[in-house]
Amino acid sequence: MTEYKPLQHLPEPAGYKAGDVLVLVGELFGRGYANGLIDEARRIGMTVIGTTVGRRDSDGSLRPLNTEECADAEALLGGTIINIPLEAGFDMESVDGVPSIAEQLKKARPDDFATINFIEGSVENARAAGTARFRSNLALLQSELLQRIPADSNILIAHSMAGGIPRARVFMPLLNRIFKGTGDKYLASGVFWDSPLGQLCNASFNEVTADTFRYLIEGTAALRERNSGSETRVCYSAYGYHGTGVLVNGEYRWQSYTPYVQGFAKMRLEDIAFEASANGIPATVYNCPEIQTNSSALFLGVEISLYPLLSAIRREAGAEIAAPLEARCQGLLKEGETVADLLERADCYLASPILDQIEDFSTWPQHNTRTQAELMLASSAQLMEMHADQKQLVCAELSKIVFLATGRLMLHYSWNPTAATVWLNHDIIGRLLADQRGAGIV
Ligand SMILES: NC(=O)c1ccc[n+]([C@@H]2O[C@H](COP(=O)([O-])OP(=O)(O)OC[C@H]3O[C@@H](n4cnc5c(N)ncnc54)[C@H](O)[C@@H]3O)[C@@H](O)[C@H]2O)c1
Repeated sequence: MTEYKPLQHLPEPAGYKAGDVLVLVGELFGRGYANGLIDEARRIGMTVIGTTVGRRDSDGSLRPLNTEECADAEALLGGTIINIPLEAGFDMESVDGVPSIAEQLKKARPDDFATINFIEGSVENARAAGTARFRSNLALLQSELLQRIPADSNILIAHSMAGGIPRARVFMPLLNRIFKGTGDKYLASGVFWDSPLGQLCNASFNEVTADTFRYLIEGTAALRERNSGSETRVCYSAYGYHGTGVLVNGEYRWQSYTPYVQGFAKMRLEDIAFEASANGIPATVYNCPEIQTNSSALFLGVEISLYPLLSAIRREAGAEIAAPLEARCQGLLKEGETVADLLERADCYLASPILDQIEDFSTWPQHNTRTQAELMLASSAQLMEMHADQKQLVCAELSKIVFLATGRLMLHYSWNPTAATVWLNHDIIGRLLADQRGAGIV
């Protein structure tokens, strides 16, 4: 089992310089974590090369971006994109005329989730086909990288992929019940997880969130070989999640969003980094704090543990840095509401004995219970209610700080990593802001 290893000290500045390259594997979205890595790479003069997951045509076939899509994606990235579709997963794969998993689930009803079956062998065959497609597209990516990146450049290959909810209508109502359901709508994540649909999700999350990191490391061996024997480095990073240390009741404490069923795949991702590191390949999984992005929007309540970042910043970086940020956050609240009350409510949830009974690092990830789900969702709603405008949230402000800060920490740590998995908790983010290495983030 992974040892809980929070990053304690700010990493020394990396040796990356102009001409060195950050390759982002996973598409960039406006408020996603990868923006932080890109921002830092650009700040220190590195070249950024992006990739795409591609798009599905109406007949289901996977294609590269068209000219307009590619121009939009490159504008967002601020760099060139290698236009090879790197979608991972297997839900749309049809093998030997057998309908794809998505096709087989077309008429499935949410109420039947515990009894749904798939054509024998079809999940395994689809998975093998999805893996083969992804690996062959990675081979094309590697050829492009070999051509575009000079042999004397250092390279950081950053994995940002996570996901894998199969594209079938049956999932949304079920996932909404698991992540957002209370009362009669509540669905126990453990019951779902043990069902055939839950196990399908398990296989799909493993493939998209974890195994793509293995394929990426294996599929870029020629880049490493080209650079071996020289002074240049080829390093790997990936975004993990395995709970976060945040201030609860005045002390830093590990806690986690529940039910993070993707956590099984995230632990597999950690194992892949361990294996690579043991083989001398610098690969690190950075377990990052809960923030609001396109991908986390489904997990209502995940944002509660982000509020105490304000307290951590005040503690680690001091009033001079914290006060203007707190004032900005105060400006987002309804009249009569205060940041102090906001923090108190978040703390009240995080310090609840109900969470204490459930959360446990050694048996993570935990499944939800009705009491916990209802407490979390009610707390989340109360905190949201304190805002003047539901579209301008304190957590959006804090999310940006987190993705920028983690980007800096990751990029510099990746130069000479001393662990295959590290936690970037609220304290180290606060400490970065206190240092000149964190200048300009807040
Ligand atoms: N948001 C959080 O609270 C949080 C916390 C810790 C770690 N992370 C991790 O950070 C990383 C980036 O996520 P984010 O929250 O910034 O959201 P995001 O939506 O911006 O990024 C998700 C990434 O996954 C890729 N992706 C999704 N489905 C894919 C598929 N089938 N095949 C290939 N790629 C696919 C997307 O292209 C994108 O690059 C993820 O690994 C995520 O698990 C997020």
